[in-house]
Amino acid sequence: MSDKTSTLSHADVESAYARWAPIYDLVFTATMKPGRRAGAAAINALAAHREISLLDVGVGTGLELPMFSPHVKITGIDLSEPMLAVARKRVLREGLGNVLDLQAMDAMALTFPDGHFDAVIAPYVLTVVPDAHRTLDEMARVTKQGGEIVLVNHIGAERGLMATLEAWLGQRAAALGWRPEFPWSIVGDWLAQRPDIRLVERRKLAPLDLFTLIRLERL
Ligand SMILES: C[S@@+](CC[C@H](N)C(=O)[O-])C[C@H]1O[C@@H](n2cnc3c(N)ncnc32)[C@H](O)[C@@H]1O
Repeated sequence: MSDKTSTLSHADVESAYARWAPIYDLVFTATMKPGRRAGAAAINALAAHREISLLDVGVGTGLELPMFSPHVKITGIDLSEPMLAVARKRVLREGLGNVLDLQAMDAMALTFPDGHFDAVIAPYVLTVVPDAHRTLDEMARVTKQGGEIVLVNHIGAERGLMATLEAWLGQRAAALGWRPEFPWSIVGDWLAQRPDIRLVERRKLAPLDLFTLIRLERL
């Protein structure tokens, strides 16, 4: 399945995040922290009684990495080398021994075998990739049966002033490096085509319900 609605290309994403990397943590730590925490809590609950393997898709500068329990053994991937360089420094600085590997890789063409991970997380990534459906297909492919996919995302307003503002900002998606107008139907249409995926939870998050936690089970 392919999501044809994106105006972002890999080149847009790489050049936008090369620019964001040196200042990303200054700008995006606080507002997006509740979403990262909610996503990490969902993963940590899976690791309450056993070790689990986790793929963090679009790990960026690794702001979520210290939030996972030591029982969560993490592989992180990202398209942007400058973002990964910041994440690698964080892992060393904070002594995060449960981060096993950080690699440059395209979320739309993962090189891991089918059913390789107990869980997959993608905080603030689905609005950034050029093709959300291909990315979801890949995340589902590498998740074990019975495993979970956890997404944290801004889901765009469907009507009103906010929808108008997001549509206007959407024309600048390539420069921003994300799609402000991302509607729920992109996820909903994908779910409708995937009888092997169950929507477990969809919950609005602080601040101001701006972000949504989505938990999916791979059946
Ligand atoms: C908004 S940042 C989120 C980073 C981190 N998860 C966080 O919560 O701060 C989105 C990240 O997705 C990465 N990204 C975008 N497209 C990608 C792709 N096709 N494959 C892998 N990573 C991608 C970007 O390079 C960027 O680091």
